[in-house]
Amino acid sequence: MRPNWLTKLLTAACVAGAFMAAPAAAKNLKFAYALSTNSHYGAGASAFVKSLEADAPGKFRIEQFPNSALGGEREVLEGLQLGTIDLAVVSTGATVNFVPATGVFDIPFLFRDLQHARKVLDGDVGQRLLAEFSKRGLVGLAWGEQGFRQLTNNVRPVAKPADAKGLKVRTMENPIHITAFRELGILATPMAWPEVATALQQGTIDGQENPMSVIVSAKLPQLQKYLSLTSHVYGPAVVLASPVSFDGLSAQDKEAFRKAAQAAAVAMRQYVDNVETTGLEEVQKAGMRVNKVDHAAFSQALEPVYPKYYKQFGKELVESIRNTQ
Ligand code: PAF
Repeated sequence: MRPNWLTKLLTAACVAGAFMAAPAAAKNLKFAYALSTNSHYGAGASAFVKSLEADAPGKFRIEQFPNSALGGEREVLEGLQLGTIDLAVVSTGATVNFVPATGVFDIPFLFRDLQHARKVLDGDVGQRLLAEFSKRGLVGLAWGEQGFRQLTNNVRPVAKPADAKGLKVRTMENPIHITAFRELGILATPMAWPEVATALQQGTIDGQENPMSVIVSAKLPQLQKYLSLTSHVYGPAVVLASPVSFDGLSAQDKEAFRKAAQAAAVAMRQYVDNVETTGLEEVQKAGMRVNKVDHAAFSQALEPVYPKYYKQFGKELVESIRNTQ
């Protein structure tokens, strides 16, 4: 039987309806970070995914690549610039080589506490530096956090600067940190994070330095005997996007990405607040020996390097960060 005009019309309407109802294919995005899904970075990435899905349902499918699966932080930053990676959270250990101005946050004993650091990062200085990323082929979405960096090693407890002398310590590939460690007589050994566990196991380095968030989530008590609470430098983290993926988004989606990055930052800070209170007991239970440190002696020992930092970043900026209440 030949279809009459009504059957044809209904069929056409059904096809058009089905077509309109079919969701557009979700855009796949790669989100890279150096630590496990159980870390502050993992917490940040999950919060990002949840927030973006709430604001742009079904539009983006984000695949997480934890544990440096897409390379060390330097390679991740290059991947963002090239567009082979869409999203990432990294430390300023890596960004300083791409956006030198972010190195100002790496100056030792600059921040009094977490609240001080968060105030600066959320304020004018932090937002100005976040905008600098766009000049280097990267999109700075939000400042997250790692916490204050602490020294671990397998040789001895470090309570005063003289104890640190001669220790072979892995540092990030960050000239601001390296200058300070060398001033203390530490044999600073810059190395990408994915190589650190093997170097500690093989004894090619004595120690490393990272915040409690990393010491706990990367299970460093399995590799290190002593934890000295140096809190020598604050470690921010930054949520970044590739301009290749970000620039073509609608204004509404860009806003959703920024909001998701804020959610990631909040999740990281919550993780840090938690691990700073519970982490010490956890690492001690795992066999680590923890000791307090004479911070004033360390800060005094680093006085000679401050003129170099002033020259690099401007004394006014350094002082204004230090004096932020
Ligand atoms: O020590 C580092 O390189 C960084 O703190 C780490 C662990 C890769 C997290 O960004």
